Amino acid sequence: MVLSRIRRCELLLLIFTGLCKPFSQSNMCSGIIENYVAAMVLSGAGDALGYNNGGWEFCKKGPKIHAELAELGGIESIDVEKWIVSDDTVMHIATAEALVEAGKSIEPSHLYPLLAKKYKECMKDMKGRAPGPTCIMNCDLLQPEIPDGWVIPFHKAAGGCGAAMRAMCIGLRFPRPEQQNDLIRISIESGRMTHHHPTGYLGSLAAALFTSYAINRKPTHEWGKELLDVLPLAKEYVKSAGRDVSQNMNAWSYFEEQWRSYLGKRGILNGTSLPIFPEQYDVKKRDEFYASVSYSGWGGSSGHDAPMIAYDAILGSGDNWTELTHRAFFHGGDSDSTAAIAAAWFGSMYGFKGVPKANYKKLEYRKRLENLGKDLYYLV
Ligand code: AR6
Ligand code: MG
Repeated sequence: MVLSRIRRCELLLLIFTGLCKPFSQSNMCSGIIENYVAAMVLSGAGDALGYNNGGWEFCKKGPKIHAELAELGGIESIDVEKWIVSDDTVMHIATAEALVEAGKSIEPSHLYPLLAKKYKECMKDMKGRAPGPTCIMNCDLLQPEIPDGWVIPFHKAAGGCGAAMRAMCIGLRFPRPEQQNDLIRISIESGRMTHHHPTGYLGSLAAALFTSYAINRKPTHEWGKELLDVLPLAKEYVKSAGRDVSQNMNAWSYFEEQWRSYLGKRGILNGTSLPIFPEQYDVKKRDEFYASVSYSGWGGSSGHDAPMIAYDAILGSGDNWTELTHRAFFHGGDSDSTAAIAAAWFGSMYGFKGVPKANYKKLEYRKRLENLGKDLYYLV
């Protein structure tokens, strides 16, 4: 009797550990399949909601967006059926499809042409989705069918968020600490296929790295400091890759300085303290803050501040979906990109917890996103 009870316990334990894959050194049960699916699907939902068929991505006034949201009945009432996904999701799908098609063969000669091919192809699906000028221009330059046809030259204006907004799935593919070098290399190289500027491709690194932290349930206040610790490794990689090194090094410091300054403002430079927010941090104040960390006044449109604003929102909302949407999806900056990134991290940590079904059930490309989440999970 006692023995059979022990066996039953062992069996349950076996089933349980089979459902969960521990990615970190600890015995935490992380990376369960629902989180993979939620990361991909909610990222698409965040993009569609922040975009609102173009109406909200380009609206510069957060209070106006929030007034329109209230008129619609709040986030709980929004059915995304007619809210198309924007370029962010189309390009995120392209990255994920390349990773899945590559399978276990992630060497440059196999994976990079695949990524370039997917980026080039996805540009045919941009009607009504407002793709970024740098993405359009540089996808056109890619020649996936020739050797090194995925390499494009350094460009001083390629610091936009177009590389960051499509990189979250790289963190899902490489979540283990021992895969960090692959995560660094692949987020940088996929990023600089369109954004060959550190501010652009380090945004891709941050989006991927934080997704790997989210899927491993690393406490959110530690992420920023860890990013600063990873940057020297990224720098070494870029030097060792040997392409346009001096231009890259000359432009390197901006991303790091902006992040250091932001983390200082939140009091989390040490990676141990909990974040401090201003006492009054309403929609208007957030708009002002987001603009203050931006490159040209449009918060979230660059590689450094899209993940930064998404991070600020994640830090401030915990597992509260409604709060996350208010902070990361609905503001006067580049709202669809900060939304796509923040929602991927939310899904990685909390799955679909507290998310109204209407916000994602009839989402365009939901099935594709769902399947990519599952495929990525089984690849790890
Ligand atoms: N450092 C920082 N920011 C820069 C730099 C730089 N060196 N150069 C340009 N920017 P854009 P994308 C800023 O328009 O990255 C879709 O709508 C510049 O001020 O080329 O191709 C998505 O939803 C500009 O505002 O876009 C995203 O919103 C910003 O980078 C967007 O396109 C965006 O660069 C992303 O695509
Ligand atoms: Mg967009």
